Amino acid sequence: MHDAAGNAVDLSVQLGGLTLKNPVLVASGTFGYGREFAGFFDLGLLGGVMVKGISLEPWEGNPLPRMVETPAGMLNAIGLQNPGVEHYLKHDLPFLRSYDTRIIVNVIGRTVEEYARVVARIEAEDGADAYELNISCPNVKEGGIAFGSDPAMAAQVVAAVRAETERPVIPKLSPNVTSVAAVAAACREAGADAVSLVNTFLAMAIDVDAERPILANGFGGLSGPAIRPIAVRMVWEVYREVDLPIIGMGGIMTARDALEFILAGASAVAVGTANFVNPYAAVEVLRGIEDAVRRRGPLAEMIGRAHRR
Ligand SMILES: Cc1cc2nc3c(=O)[nH]c(=O)nc-3n(C[C@H](O)[C@H](O)[C@H](O)COP(=O)(O)O)c2cc1C
Repeated sequence: MHDAAGNAVDLSVQLGGLTLKNPVLVASGTFGYGREFAGFFDLGLLGGVMVKGISLEPWEGNPLPRMVETPAGMLNAIGLQNPGVEHYLKHDLPFLRSYDTRIIVNVIGRTVEEYARVVARIEAEDGADAYELNISCPNVKEGGIAFGSDPAMAAQVVAAVRAETERPVIPKLSPNVTSVAAVAAACREAGADAVSLVNTFLAMAIDVDAERPILANGFGGLSGPAIRPIAVRMVWEVYREVDLPIIGMGGIMTARDALEFILAGASAVAVGTANFVNPYAAVEVLRGIEDAVRRRGPLAEMIGRAHRR
């Protein structure tokens, strides 16, 4: 990155053991494995891509309808549909590796052992730069949110994966809990290098004419600008209470939104639902952060600065 005079602007960040060239990531499940967006911009501009959740075997996902727009957001109940780890290694990894960006693989499992097996398989092929553990999906009957709602279970998943890899392990925490900091602290004890905050909020919408839930699954996960103030508060809490780097997300549409998360304590940010509205959103957020660093000074000093004012 260069400023108007051609001088380099340092946007690099440290996230546990992971160095990102800039703090802008794209959130899991909103960017596929990158292909659909590669026609819009060079994926190498991003600090990293958090790929759609990957399981040991292919998962079919939930029946339709599984997405609906809501005021300032959307509900989804995709149910973690994905083609499985072997498909990722064969078809998606070579494509992503052709870009100069970090690959953060989002891992899902029905059991603690399944998370560990997915990571072991990817390790064998050198198929990730870091692992984000989805222990917070509200849309599946088994696994998912059950692991992220209980500090002891979250710690078990982290410890099992920790035993398989030296690469950064980043549990993705659920906002559907009373104390997100308690779960983050348990993950730290178990060996996590950073945490992602937040996944979607358990929610639902009713079709008033048909007099039944709109989503076939009944419940779904709420994302988009509607959740941003709650997500910012959770990042603030974890930054204050737990010594772990944070990837902040939840309704980031613009660079100003991303700066809220950074000032609350996030070392990096992920753009999610905004990708559906504007495929250039992540690049625009990056340009805006670059501009802010030029005007306000180093990124490292901006992280958590709202706590010190
Ligand atoms: C359609 C859709 C699919 C998602 N799939 C995943 C997923 O596979 N794994 C995961 O950890 N999070 C998943 N998420 C959650 C997002 O990564 C993100 O945490 C959440 O949507 C909040 O950010 P946002 O408001 O910017 O979208 C999904 C979100 C949406 C909207």
